[in-house]
Amino acid sequence: MVTISDKISRTYAEYRFIPRKTPEGLSKDKIDLTAQITKDTADRQGIRLKLPVVSAAMQSVTGPEMAIALAQQGGLGVLFCSQTIEHEAMMVKAVKRARAGFVSMVEVVQRSAHTVTIRDIIEQTGYNVIPVVEGDRSDYGRFFGIIEGPIPPDVSDDTPAEQLMQHFNQETLEKIVEREKGSADARDLIDMINDYLPYGSSGISLDDANLIMNEHRLKYLPIVNKDNTLKFMVFKKDLQAHTDFPNSVVGPNKRYRVGASINTHDYKDRVPALVEAGVDVLFIDSSDGFTDYQDICINHIKKEFPDTPIVAGNIISGEAFDNLAALGVDGVKFGMGGGSICITQEQKGTGRGQSTAGLEISEHRDRFADKTGDHIPIISDGGLGPAKDVAMALAFGADAVMMGRYFGGCHESPPPIIEIDGKPHKEYWGEGSLRAKEWSGKRYGQNEFDEGVTSFIPYTGRVADNLNETFAKIYATMTSVGAHDIASLQKRALVELISDASRKEGGVHDVKEVGKTSTTP
Ligand code: IMP
Repeated sequence: MVTISDKISRTYAEYRFIPRKTPEGLSKDKIDLTAQITKDTADRQGIRLKLPVVSAAMQSVTGPEMAIALAQQGGLGVLFCSQTIEHEAMMVKAVKRARAGFVSMVEVVQRSAHTVTIRDIIEQTGYNVIPVVEGDRSDYGRFFGIIEGPIPPDVSDDTPAEQLMQHFNQETLEKIVEREKGSADARDLIDMINDYLPYGSSGISLDDANLIMNEHRLKYLPIVNKDNTLKFMVFKKDLQAHTDFPNSVVGPNKRYRVGASINTHDYKDRVPALVEAGVDVLFIDSSDGFTDYQDICINHIKKEFPDTPIVAGNIISGEAFDNLAALGVDGVKFGMGGGSICITQEQKGTGRGQSTAGLEISEHRDRFADKTGDHIPIISDGGLGPAKDVAMALAFGADAVMMGRYFGGCHESPPPIIEIDGKPHKEYWGEGSLRAKEWSGKRYGQNEFDEGVTSFIPYTGRVADNLNETFAKIYATMTSVGAHDIASLQKRALVELISDASRKEGGVHDVKEVGKTSTTP
């Protein structure tokens, strides 16, 4: 006979906070939102973020640009795994080198490469500056020039890299002039010699590289060896990053932290590549994390890569939490069916409201901690965006939240901005949608039906501005609750279910609203 739970599936949006007394002196600058996302062990400290937010591991949400932007703001980006192992590892490297002064892992293209390959690299990595080289060595070859993306759509896919370069080194330019001698364009080409791309010589200091960039108003500087092979790139924005982003989340060697997702199918090949690339934490991307497959995957990684923390999931019950905790996972993601693009509940009938799941799982987490001394952080994944719901998720026990739609609308997500009805939008699609599954159906283990949709969402601007506004609201909620950190929010929060009538009363009603200033709900 079926077992019927005596709980009702509820979600955060159904609750409101009742203020507790705000203590004197509790202001925004006294509130600490440090969030632990992986557990402390005898050998290592768990990963701590400055803000309790991570971006969803989705094609339409997290590439290197998003991960860098989030790490700069105090959160964490989780790269998607619905791509080849090589591409995902390349993205990890891209994040890891972002903070560096001399960047030694830039993505380069061969001089003979075709536009189709270069477009692919720009799309996959989010890089806009691609050096062109020639050579079959594993490091860079002879340096020819730079392609700056995006490549105009009218350039055909088989155009060679050489013809796309906008910035040339002097030697290349001289060769082109030699080749074109006597042609009608020779004069223009000779003029271009005077405008060749400056470069730094191997051994140059960062300060001197900066001086050259300032003098020539450059955003980047190639550093080449005596034999004209490319050694490093220096990017102006990296030099500014440290002073611009005091909340940065960095790991060893002061590199930005980054998470990368894996699936329970090709993990034996994917994990070594990601670890080699420098990933800080692995996230198992599965719509149902309470399976033997996930157990086997976790056991394998724990044995082979004991130094790399794993966040497992997704689960929605205390029973499933106990299972993962016993396997020694470092963090747990919960949520099934709540994602904005998710149709799992309709298709499979599985799922649960996030507050019911969160409360039950956090009770099990606390019980496990009392028994073992291990606090396993839990991350609420799916359905979030409005600041009040994020605050509610934390109050209900989550250590952090994972968001897709919220970050998908930001400037730094991979899809380009498109215009719909005169307004900027971005495309946002689920990992279980037909579009994402064109790569592979691995997250969902089946291809017969979809579990997600493709959608358009409003473009909301920069990650930094969105988080700034969202957290201004969360600080205000915490002040009303009288909480100075996440633990005290969970202890002090008094919440109440809201009826439809009082929800209506709580919104704008019976007036015609004139304009709105807020960009985030
Ligand atoms: P959102 O923040 O409400 O947009 O939800 C994002 C979350 O939805 C992700 O972190 C995933 O856990 C989940 N998700 C991503 N793609 C799909 C899908 O295609 N179907 C169901 N859930 C998905």
